[in-house]
Amino acid sequence: MERKNVTIAPDEIAHQRGFTELIRTMLLARESRPAACVDTFGCQQNVADGEKLMGMLKEMGFSLTDEPKEADVVILNTCAIREHAEQRVFGNLGALTHTKKANPHQIICLCGCMAQEDRVSKRVKESYRHVDLVFGPHALWKFPELLWQVYESHGRVFAVEDEVGSIAEGLPTLRQEGAKAWVSIMYGCNNFCSYCIVPYVRGRERSRDKDAVLAEVRELVEAGYKEITLLGQNVNSYGNDLGGGYDFADLLSDIDQIPGDYLIRFMSSHPKDATHKLFDVMARCSHVAKQLHLPFQSGNNRVLKEMNRRYTREQYLEEINYAKAKMPNLVLTSDVIIGFPGETEAEAMETVSLVEDVGFDALFTFIYSPRPGTKAAELPDPVPRSEKQKWFDRLLEVQNAKSAAAHAAYVGKTLRVLVDGESEDTDWPLSSRTEGNRLVRVKGNKSLIGTFADVKITDSNTWALYGEAVTV
Ligand code: SAH
Ligand code: SF4
Ligand code: F3S
Repeated sequence: MERKNVTIAPDEIAHQRGFTELIRTMLLARESRPAACVDTFGCQQNVADGEKLMGMLKEMGFSLTDEPKEADVVILNTCAIREHAEQRVFGNLGALTHTKKANPHQIICLCGCMAQEDRVSKRVKESYRHVDLVFGPHALWKFPELLWQVYESHGRVFAVEDEVGSIAEGLPTLRQEGAKAWVSIMYGCNNFCSYCIVPYVRGRERSRDKDAVLAEVRELVEAGYKEITLLGQNVNSYGNDLGGGYDFADLLSDIDQIPGDYLIRFMSSHPKDATHKLFDVMARCSHVAKQLHLPFQSGNNRVLKEMNRRYTREQYLEEINYAKAKMPNLVLTSDVIIGFPGETEAEAMETVSLVEDVGFDALFTFIYSPRPGTKAAELPDPVPRSEKQKWFDRLLEVQNAKSAAAHAAYVGKTLRVLVDGESEDTDWPLSSRTEGNRLVRVKGNKSLIGTFADVKITDSNTWALYGEAVTV
């Protein structure tokens, strides 16, 4: 199957650079250097998008600030996954009326997944009139042109057309300082899990060319990055749209050939596409962290079917048993939703029992949040929130005990960790991650930041490990 060309042509990207130059020249005429603030919510895909926006802003001549009141341009890069995430953004948007009053020339932009929702862009158009620019993930690469339109027209600009989506290579990126980097290997999602808004706001699955991914990873390793996380809503379906049979396991295998001292992680994986081949490759490749985030969402087969997840509890268990047999030290994490419409207490308890049986190292737990426009939002949802909260608390209790026990088992061991920054805890001034991505607070010298170090684990709790750097 030959997919139609979804890659933005290089001359279109060059055209955007033209707008960047126009803005840069205009801003240079000003007395002081303008500042921009990018506030990112949501998942790592959005963080990676935020780094692109910052890269574009920097090329336009902006300095970057964390303080909206100091900024000439404020961007809220939003997430639509749960209602709570949206409420926070509307709260922040409201607060920006004050910064704009103080600085009437301030330009306020709303982008990311919320911006792509019709309901949201209409509400912003009507009720948040201080917002100048609204653009969805599909228009991210056109940000220079859109911002130029705002400057030129002194009016409001909305770029939220519904699209299947494209791939834009060669955008500038301002990466976080430090040892860790994100690399999107694909965009969008085809799965339409019945509760989830992502396929509606991020378009269809499209995989980047493998050579583009390999070149980017190679560049990052050469620049000294020590941990590179490959991103996609479902990395296991990488390549399906490219034809030719080259899949995610092949990509991992090829990345692993790049020489250097670094770790590769990836997220997220969908159990319906996780193959034995993938686990075999993970086990064999020395750069690939023996860590797997494999969301199962529910332990009950009826609920899984209603969720449109396309695997059963038994299939999920078979997969992780295989993965654990191949990688005895595998660190396994997952996502779970409690209180899907129509879920009964007995069904929710099957989720709890799966958590009890598997013993995940950590779990990301959510109470179902209806997303307008999704199938599940149309289903009857008779169980009150207070009841769902009780099930949720039971789940947390089980998981917290599991996390604490898993962490306690590390005490006395010496582990290789990547020291990634300072911690707020003065007794344990460094923060680090194990190969399995467990948080370790470390006693040691700041010079270790950005390096792999051996740490003897002396203490633990539900959330973290504690240790001392071992000097060799
Ligand atoms: N593509 C990723 C998930 C991205 S969203 C994957 O499939 O693994 C991250 C998590 O948010 C999901 O795994 C799910 O557990 C949760 N989530 C998504 N939609 C939700 C909703 N409507 N209510 C509650 N949790 C939700
Ligand atoms: Fe949402 Fe499912 Fe796609 Fe993940 S795989 S982004 S949960 S629709
Ligand atoms: Fe949120 Fe969009 Fe990510 S909805 S979780 S920011 S893909």
